[in-house]
Amino acid sequence: YSKMAEAYKIKMVESISLIPKEERERRIVEAGYNQFALRAEDIFIDLLTDSGTGAMSDKQWSALMLGDESYAGSRSFYRLEEAVKGVVGYRYFVPTHQGRGAENVLFPLLIKEGQYVINNMHFDTTKAHVELKGGRAVNMVIQEAYDTQLEHPFKGNVDIEEMERFILEKGRENIAFIMITITCNSAGGQPVSMDNIREVRRVADRYNLKVVFDSARFAENAYFIKRREDEFKDREISSIIREMFSYGDALTMSAKKDAIVNMGGMIAIREDEKLYTQVRAMVVPMEGFPTYGGLSGRDMDAMAVGLVESTDEAYLSTRIGQIEYLADKLIEAGIPIQRPVGGHAVFVDARRFLPHVPFNQFPAQALCVELYREAGVRGVEIGSFLLGRDPDSGQQLESPLELLRLTIPRRVYTNSHMDVVAAALINIYKRRQEIGGYEIVSEPEVLRHFTARLKPV
Ligand code: F0G
Repeated sequence: YSKMAEAYKIKMVESISLIPKEERERRIVEAGYNQFALRAEDIFIDLLTDSGTGAMSDKQWSALMLGDESYAGSRSFYRLEEAVKGVVGYRYFVPTHQGRGAENVLFPLLIKEGQYVINNMHFDTTKAHVELKGGRAVNMVIQEAYDTQLEHPFKGNVDIEEMERFILEKGRENIAFIMITITCNSAGGQPVSMDNIREVRRVADRYNLKVVFDSARFAENAYFIKRREDEFKDREISSIIREMFSYGDALTMSAKKDAIVNMGGMIAIREDEKLYTQVRAMVVPMEGFPTYGGLSGRDMDAMAVGLVESTDEAYLSTRIGQIEYLADKLIEAGIPIQRPVGGHAVFVDARRFLPHVPFNQFPAQALCVELYREAGVRGVEIGSFLLGRDPDSGQQLESPLELLRLTIPRRVYTNSHMDVVAAALINIYKRRQEIGGYEIVSEPEVLRHFTARLKPV
């Protein structure tokens, strides 16, 4: 019976409501057909992101009260340190205010001007930080990831052969480090297998390169390894996590995802004391003194508890089960999604959903607008609108995938909310022929998708 229902019950609730259809129409026009410009109060079910949007547990809320706000040597820091050592298994760590704070501190220490960073797939802020530090971000996820209808248990895997070929071609001295993003967000929250992680480590050792994990969704990745990799079917999640991390030299983490806090992040280093000393020095001007790194004491306490909770298998089974619940409803209705579904979101394949809308009219953005109109649900476009223009020619680039991401916050919505999302998308699917594309009216030069304004073509 325990698998039939959520592994928690609700102690506090927050009201949400669906504003009338005419009002939704007004709001989306005012927002320039950009869901980032909507106000939260005009949204019924918010699937923009799973980042910082999770529901903290009673134990996390209790931990907040124990927060020690000492500038240096806070008790909260030492409690977090203990949790990090237990869950991750690395010797050194510094907190940061979120994931990109960690990238900002660590990357300049590892990247020399012009060097490449190899990743299965860079998240957009990660790519931005690589480039800001003079590096060049290259994605080397396996080709299967780009075919949404092809079933593969680990679509987040690094293409090992391509990676080795690339290292030989560019020369080892031109590679800054290898990053493994677990789970691979941009490919659809797709997991990376332990086997693949071991292979990356072997190649890295051959060329004396560092392996750094981008580890926002580390626990979800471990859960998939347990479910899909035979060797691990009887292993504890916590032990799988420690083995994964044992193949890395360092990690950056956005704790806003699996560690279920509203704000927080970290850098952890397995054993390189010299790198740790450099990180400690750099974190001071950028994030704060190394025993708080941009966080309140109470934030660190909530994170310490969240880190451990994220490794609970019953919770992970509820979590991934909910994503699968929504995915199954969509698949049953014939709606094309990235398959098999990943860990934190359902990614709808908008190119297949709206084949008559070309990439430069942003099919996934069109779907996103339509979903808000239909049911007040906010998703997010991961496609050509997000990708932007070629910096030299100014031409719109074509993304290999046009995806509408329906990102599910942790422990926040019930399966009835998932029913609403599914019903809305199914209704849209029935009238998909009537849905047209969008063009840009105004856009800023960088990270345009947050503030650009659009209009129907
Ligand atoms: N790495 C990955 C894989 C991420 O998904 C994110 C954030 C970051 C790094 C940056 O972390 O937001 O704490 O600074 N992803 C969020 C998302 C924003 O919606 O997917 P951050």
